[in-house]
Amino acid sequence: MEIKEIILEELTPKKFIEEKVKDISSKVGSNFAINALSGGVDSSVVTMLGHEALGAKLKTYFIDNGLMREGEPEHVVSIYKNLGVNVEIIDAKKVFFDALKNVTDPEEKREAVTSSFYKNVFGKLVKNNNAKYLFQGTILTDVDETVAGIKRQHNVFEQLGIDPEEAFGYKILEPLVQLRKPAVREVGKALGLPEEIYNRPPFPGPALAARVIGEVSPEKIETVRKATVIVEEELKNSGAFQYLAILHEDKVTGIRDGNRDFGSQIEIRCWESKDARTGSPTRLSYDILERLAERITTEIPKVVSVTYNITKKPPSTIEAV
Ligand code: XMP
Repeated sequence: MEIKEIILEELTPKKFIEEKVKDISSKVGSNFAINALSGGVDSSVVTMLGHEALGAKLKTYFIDNGLMREGEPEHVVSIYKNLGVNVEIIDAKKVFFDALKNVTDPEEKREAVTSSFYKNVFGKLVKNNNAKYLFQGTILTDVDETVAGIKRQHNVFEQLGIDPEEAFGYKILEPLVQLRKPAVREVGKALGLPEEIYNRPPFPGPALAARVIGEVSPEKIETVRKATVIVEEELKNSGAFQYLAILHEDKVTGIRDGNRDFGSQIEIRCWESKDARTGSPTRLSYDILERLAERITTEIPKVVSVTYNITKKPPSTIEAV
């Protein structure tokens, strides 16, 4: 079924919110629903819409898949506490790392994360809560890229001919599927979310697993997590659409303390984009690039090489996996 886009110029956030709240209440009726909050703008907007519509009939979880950024679970939960929304953290690290073991193909990695979320983790949560519905923040760009066969976004099913009720035993509701990122941000602002949330740079569903080339392990995630802290600190005032660190699979020869050191490589990407469909690298100054290289190779001693991606999307994509 063709999804009718609501373009930014045609969006009236207050009206959109009213309509979605009404729609969610009538669809869910007296049943229970759950949703997972990652702290990104899409899942945040869904959480607020859901709570406005369903109140105590919606239970919100943060799935700690072990692939999130430094301190992210606790930080997200505390923001929502201030907004009056109770979020429970589910420790699912083992499920995800087990599923990712020995998997190197990018699409298989995405599939491993997807099935861990939907079959293993949500499957159980839905049962335990006696819920009939799962809410999620799929947006139109996720659908486009999946249907075009570019990347299997972790949250797209029906458009691929997968019936979630048959596959996982529950219905999925996607109130944002007609919107793209800039429109979602406007709705988030109108819902009273803090700017830190409604203007948050995008972060992919497979989280840091999308930023490790080759097999994902807790150790590699830790390396890319540390690099991510540095990249986000240094580029947060760049005004860029998105900035990230990628851990390469290949090692290269470096020198440490006068000795040969066969070490890891980190690639930095920083994007100018409106809606992630196309993008071009930010023309960062050499001072910033040098500081990034200096900090990453000093603070993460196993890294001996830092590169900056200068390729546009297309042919590059924003994430590496
Ligand atoms: P790519 O890498 O396809 O990314 O150029 C386009 C935008 O989508 C984000 N991204 C994802 N978001 N689930 C998501 O919710 C995913 O599986 C996923 N993969 C990529 C990416 O960060 C960028 O903003």
